[in-house]
Amino acid sequence: MSIDSATPIRAEEPATSVRTATKRTVLMCKPQFFTVVYRINPWMDPALPTDTSLAVKQWQTLYDTYVGLGFDVHLIDPIDGLPDMVYAANGGFVIDNQAYGAKFTHVERQPEGPAYMDWFGANGFDVRVPVETNEGEGDFLLVGDVILAGTGFRSDSNSHAELSIIAGRPVITLRLINPSFYHLDTAIAVLDDTNIAYLPSAFDAPSLAILQERYPDAIIVTEEDASILGLNSYSDGYNVVIAARAKDFERQLRARGYNPIGVDLSELLLGGGGVKCCTLELRR
Ligand code: ARG
Repeated sequence: MSIDSATPIRAEEPATSVRTATKRTVLMCKPQFFTVVYRINPWMDPALPTDTSLAVKQWQTLYDTYVGLGFDVHLIDPIDGLPDMVYAANGGFVIDNQAYGAKFTHVERQPEGPAYMDWFGANGFDVRVPVETNEGEGDFLLVGDVILAGTGFRSDSNSHAELSIIAGRPVITLRLINPSFYHLDTAIAVLDDTNIAYLPSAFDAPSLAILQERYPDAIIVTEEDASILGLNSYSDGYNVVIAARAKDFERQLRARGYNPIGVDLSELLLGGGGVKCCTLELRR
């Protein structure tokens, strides 16, 4: 057997991989009217008190972190009476300057759809009004040139086909089965164009098989880290902004050559959201 010296030996994900950060443009919404007055996911308990000023303070740290990383951060005005509007990821899915609008499952959040679409339109995006129920980047995650799409709790699988036509990219349907991980961005973290991290138990067997086949080198997070929404993180390809308490995820990221940055969004966790939920990527 001879080894062609021109063929590099392909090691699987060396710890020393060179990670490259690319500048991101994101949309955020200050939690000025954040509180928990209804329950549409298991994290929310209207009987528990919330501290809006603490939510704003913690959110400001996330905002400052993004600015510090050189991101271009845009803001949409919060609306009184829409306490979940801080979770900007659900406001739509934006790709190639097209903004596919959200159509929320629960009546409490439905007015957010048009509010976000108005912002997209006013800011030069080509708005695509949705026919099918979908909760934007909460359930749609771009990994390289494919879109991973969640269903089971919020986005209807018909929205996957609708988005595929608009985005002109393959959309891979993944079924979520644990109500605590009701949006895809609570069960998968996108690290860069080829790498993800995920929680296997959040998916049904066929979906898990798809993930194992497509991403054999994925980071598998612990139930403990997932249970504080540790996967709900946002990466620029090198810097990965994560929940400060997700210690094992932090360790695994570092071992793979990423730069994890912990932030504490404990107050927003009372609404069932974390770092990624507060972040909508804008792709011109
Ligand atoms: N209370 C919100 C809801 O249940 C939280 C949304 C979290 N967003 C996300 N992208 N996972 O709809």
